[in-house]
Amino acid sequence: MCGIVGYIGHREAYPIVIKGLKRLEYRGYDSAGVMIYDGDAIKLCKTKGKVADLEQKALAEMTTTGSVGIGHTRWATHGVPNDVNSHPHESNSGDLVIIHNGIIENYAPLKEELIKRGYVFHSDTDTEVLVNLIEEIQIKEKLKLGKAVQVALNQVIGAYAIAVFDKKNPNEIVAARLGSPLAIGIGEGEYFIASDASPFIEYTSNAVYLEDGEMANIRLHKNMKVRKIKDDSLVDPYIQELKMNLEQIEKGGYDHFMLKEIYEQPSVIKDTYRGRLHANEGIIQMAGIEDNLEKFLNADRIIIVACGTSWHAGLVAEYIFEEFARISVEVEYASEFRYRNPIINSKDVVIAISQSGETADTMAAIKLAKENGAFVFGVCNVVGSSISRETYAGAYTHAGPEIGVASTKAFTTQITVLTMIALRLAKAKGTLSHTDYHMYLQELELIPEKVQEALATDSVAKEIAAVFVDAPNCLYLGRGYNFPVALEGALKLKEISYIHAEGYPAAEMKHGPIALIDEQMPVVVIAPRQGHYDKIVSNIQEIKSRSGKIIAIVTKGDTEVRRLADYVIEIPKTSDPLSPLITTIPLQLLSYHIAVMRGCNVDQPRNLAKSVTVE
Ligand code: F6R
Repeated sequence: MCGIVGYIGHREAYPIVIKGLKRLEYRGYDSAGVMIYDGDAIKLCKTKGKVADLEQKALAEMTTTGSVGIGHTRWATHGVPNDVNSHPHESNSGDLVIIHNGIIENYAPLKEELIKRGYVFHSDTDTEVLVNLIEEIQIKEKLKLGKAVQVALNQVIGAYAIAVFDKKNPNEIVAARLGSPLAIGIGEGEYFIASDASPFIEYTSNAVYLEDGEMANIRLHKNMKVRKIKDDSLVDPYIQELKMNLEQIEKGGYDHFMLKEIYEQPSVIKDTYRGRLHANEGIIQMAGIEDNLEKFLNADRIIIVACGTSWHAGLVAEYIFEEFARISVEVEYASEFRYRNPIINSKDVVIAISQSGETADTMAAIKLAKENGAFVFGVCNVVGSSISRETYAGAYTHAGPEIGVASTKAFTTQITVLTMIALRLAKAKGTLSHTDYHMYLQELELIPEKVQEALATDSVAKEIAAVFVDAPNCLYLGRGYNFPVALEGALKLKEISYIHAEGYPAAEMKHGPIALIDEQMPVVVIAPRQGHYDKIVSNIQEIKSRSGKIIAIVTKGDTEVRRLADYVIEIPKTSDPLSPLITTIPLQLLSYHIAVMRGCNVDQPRNLAKSVTVE
């Protein structure tokens, strides 16, 4: 978590750094800071709060001219969010300034050692330890900044993306990464450093993504040098041409990124299957699958590892893989999998699902699976992300940048990719009838249209939101393919509106949660016509007889549930396995409107960050 930005070149650094931090605020937003070097002195400003607060403070307190700058937007790990713990951090001499995304795990013994040598610490952060360690090495061993950074990084344990500036040599910034992302934009006589490419896309489309264990000496008027931190060997950096454009990372007239991303779903789902799904020809072609088809066909089972919303997409996939391709699937929280000594072998295929491609727990689960000989396949959204590089093969979701912290379009595009994989395997194994296989392909191709139709439920969702805006609790129930959707609906509501919400398989209600139901309790029931419709109607009756308030998601034209429910949201019909792609839409809209009506910060909910690079 945390976003870092740096600039060295011929332009004013301050506006670039501030704008960049605003674009990276999704990564963390509890405090922020900026350092500008004005050609003579270091100007530093830090504050608890958002980048907008920093901007106000900086304009009041410091001169902002200068063409070298670094900035940071924080999601606290060590030390509470306050001005002092905010980055950048200075070394004791005041010469070195650092920004850091990650965690230095062995900071405590290093700090103790530095205190013995007379260093004084002002913050509770691990980062202040790192900058003083670099300074101590620089002074003791009479090294230039780059070398001192390298020696220091070889002493620390943890994860980092850092940028370090040294007032004694102001034409240089040293950057390094291990476990946290870092992109370097290369312009004409200027360089940009950032956690992702969004802060610099209007200036250059050439970027180098540092690999884990690499560092870069970024010098004005000189070529950047990239080397391995461990053995100092030089690396020829691969310069990528960026595909991202400005429009993709702006709100485009919507009030919030989340709403924009909800509304993008018809087009991004199409982007996800474009060139891969050929419904008329009965073909699904995904390079990552074709190249490794035998691995999937010979697998004893598939293990899916993921966190949060991506884990919910994994649960939907479990139902789909088992139904379509008759392969046994286990879905694991990556955070549990990595620590529980799981049984993994070389005949397992592990699928890691991650929007950001940076989630630390998912990364660790992948490493564990690889160590045990499994074939590891990634389903990621962010191109070039750590997980997409760490896995042996994969399929991108092509959802475009997801900036709202609550995941929406990532979820539906993950399900789209996973459905295509299941269908491809079903074809190879002959586990679906010819008719069903072709029917699902046709249905999948129609999903964007149906999602578009489902978006028309926005006004109904808003009316229902107005009724339940003050509810303290909410239950979400679904069965079969829509049980994971119930979990996802509840997660969406709790994370952006702070209303306590639980998702359950509808039949589990009678084993406990039914005790919660009274006339105060809103219960969202996902009840499309297909699947276990009769069963869910019985569940609805059970809620009704206990006076619960029923909000039902039903197929257009439904009359039976309509008679029982207090509120209904009608969605278009699709086949049962594909229904999560449609039933999810009104749930996203419902949580969005409730959160807006409660005055919550929808795009940046409290305590959360978009990319969870700490365990
Ligand atoms: C919820 C949400 C999170 C993420 C989770 C995993 O809306 O966004 O639960 O799904 O942190 O993130 P990724 O998919 O980036 O690995």
